[in-house]
Amino acid sequence: MSRFYITTPIYYVNAAPHLGTFYTTVVADALARYHRAQGDDTFFLTGLDEHGQKIERIARERGMDPQTYTDGIAAQFIETWKRAGISNDDFIRTTSERHKKAAAEMWGRIDAAGDLYTADYDGMYCVGCEDWKSEDDVIVEGGEKVCPIHHRPVERVTETNYFFRLSRYADKLLALYDTPGFVRPESRRNEVASFVRGGLKDISVSRMKKSVTWGIPVPGDPDHVIYVWMEALTNYLTVLGGPEAVSRPGNAQDTWRGAYHLIAKDILRFHAVYWPAMLMSAGLPMPAGIFCHGYLTVKGQKISKSMPATRVDPAQIAEDLGVEPLRYFVLREYTLGGDGDFTYEALLQRYESDLGNDLGNLLNRTVSMAHRFQAGKVDAYQPTDADASEEVVKIGRSWVTRTAGAHWQEFAPAQALETAWKLIREANRYIDAKKPWELGKDPARVQGAGSLAAVLAICCEALRITARLVAPAMPATARKILQQLGRPEQEADSWPTDGEFAWPGGTVGAAEPLFPRFDAEKKAALIAKWLPDSLTSSPPAASTAPSPTPAAGPTGPAAPIDKADFDRIDLRAAKVLTCERVPKTEKLLKLTLDLGTEQRTVISGIAGAYTPETLVGRTVIYLSNLKPAKIRGVISQGMILAAGDTTVLALSTLDTEVPPGTPIR
Ligand code: ME8
Ligand code: MG
Repeated sequence: MSRFYITTPIYYVNAAPHLGTFYTTVVADALARYHRAQGDDTFFLTGLDEHGQKIERIARERGMDPQTYTDGIAAQFIETWKRAGISNDDFIRTTSERHKKAAAEMWGRIDAAGDLYTADYDGMYCVGCEDWKSEDDVIVEGGEKVCPIHHRPVERVTETNYFFRLSRYADKLLALYDTPGFVRPESRRNEVASFVRGGLKDISVSRMKKSVTWGIPVPGDPDHVIYVWMEALTNYLTVLGGPEAVSRPGNAQDTWRGAYHLIAKDILRFHAVYWPAMLMSAGLPMPAGIFCHGYLTVKGQKISKSMPATRVDPAQIAEDLGVEPLRYFVLREYTLGGDGDFTYEALLQRYESDLGNDLGNLLNRTVSMAHRFQAGKVDAYQPTDADASEEVVKIGRSWVTRTAGAHWQEFAPAQALETAWKLIREANRYIDAKKPWELGKDPARVQGAGSLAAVLAICCEALRITARLVAPAMPATARKILQQLGRPEQEADSWPTDGEFAWPGGTVGAAEPLFPRFDAEKKAALIAKWLPDSLTSSPPAASTAPSPTPAAGPTGPAAPIDKADFDRIDLRAAKVLTCERVPKTEKLLKLTLDLGTEQRTVISGIAGAYTPETLVGRTVIYLSNLKPAKIRGVISQGMILAAGDTTVLALSTLDTEVPPGTPIR
């Protein structure tokens, strides 16, 4: 029996789960479910990263102590994962005693290896990344050095820190990357190898307690806390009993050697460079590998907690559509490894076609026909040469099981599901071709080769195999399919046996649609409901003026006005000269506009939909004679126009370039 230990990143508790964290967690869950079904000794870990400056600050902003804050978010994660059907075997929180102990042990081992030293540090730090930044890592926006990921100013850190001798491990790391499959996909392996070849510097691995208190103390030095990444990575060992347990031959070590870290590309360097180096220093074995996937985006922008416009709430979708269609969608739609853009339309499209028209329909017509023509009884499949050479039997017997299994083994859920759908579609085609409803009317064609009995048995068996093929993605759906087929639900827990196509005979249950249909109106209503709520609950985004209370739904046209009313409104083309975020706000941008004759400063609530650098140089429509208002200490003059009622959907721009200041009538 082989071992399969799969981990997700431990997520920061700076906000509730979103579609990005849902994605990684669902992929890990599906992989774990496949490996369990196919008999591997499987262990699946997810959890939370609860220390560090980012969390300390958010808690403080909310007037809470960090532990209370963290406990609240942890409860949300646990609840979301439960509803999403996540089958993790353990849940790690870095504020737990077992983790503090494991992190201290890891520190001790690295220290004993002579790989820690103290030195004065003077450099930049991005709290959003919880990462050190060099001059090459930062960009300048609005005259300030900012992190290109978070667009927030980096902070200067001048303190005495502990350093880890990362530079010592370059050659060993390069040798490690030569292990086939250690870093996947191949493009990511090349990326980390060239990073290491470019030269490794020692990294600071502690913070002084005077600047960061929310962390695990450095053993024997109460003035310092361990740098959050250095302790967070150790979580993967904590749950196995900590570094000492993994250092000895035995169960914990065997599990550890079968470990795969599933991550996205944002944290590749931590996992593929720092973490193996730490393990080498601590004298511990390597995990089996790292699989790095891309980003899910909304309109091309990475889904993230700090970008409200990209918010997609898996919990809300799950409530309206069921969580399994969403699980299926993210697994099937995106090839693991690449980036993928999320749209609600694509989600509903797959819901309707793959789930409703293909899978749901196959089950529904099979079970309904069994009731209609055979009083629900479907006799055991009696293979004849004619039936055994049907395409559906040929692919169902072996090809689909082997091929889909190989794809799961290779971390390719989309291809595994695509393979399963070949069987589903083939079974539907087979029904269309055989027309069992005609066979049912002819007493001579009820039994024997190519008969109604054979068609129903073949469809039931194809569905029984399908249930197990889709179980890693949709475990509850798999059970419902088996239930309707009159089979024990536990069959969902084992991967189909290669070479077996043997419907054992039995009585099917009641037919019930798995994926109810929605009409166009209902679909539109769902999409409207799912649009980011963090924005709809905010004040009119583009406006700086006092606003009427937002209406509950789309509103009709307002009351008529005279042309004279409109003429009082002075709209101009204006060019964006500079743009930066307003610090400590999520939605506000500060823009300088060129109005031809003068420059204007405007505060606009569009940061949820636009990043500063995408606006500079663009010509916008500007309401120039709005009374100035003071916002966050800045005088904002006028406002820029955007589409959207309470949510900014699109900035109003002009079709062709016109000189700044041109009136708009
Ligand atoms: O980095 N697309 O936590 P984090 C795909 N605490 N995956 C996404 C995503 C997106 N748009 N957004 C987030 C941390 N993810 C550290 C990890 S591990 C020892 C410490 C997923 O909350 C993806 O797996 O920022 C990514 O790597 C992870 O969330 C980052 O989560
Ligand atoms: Mg992050």
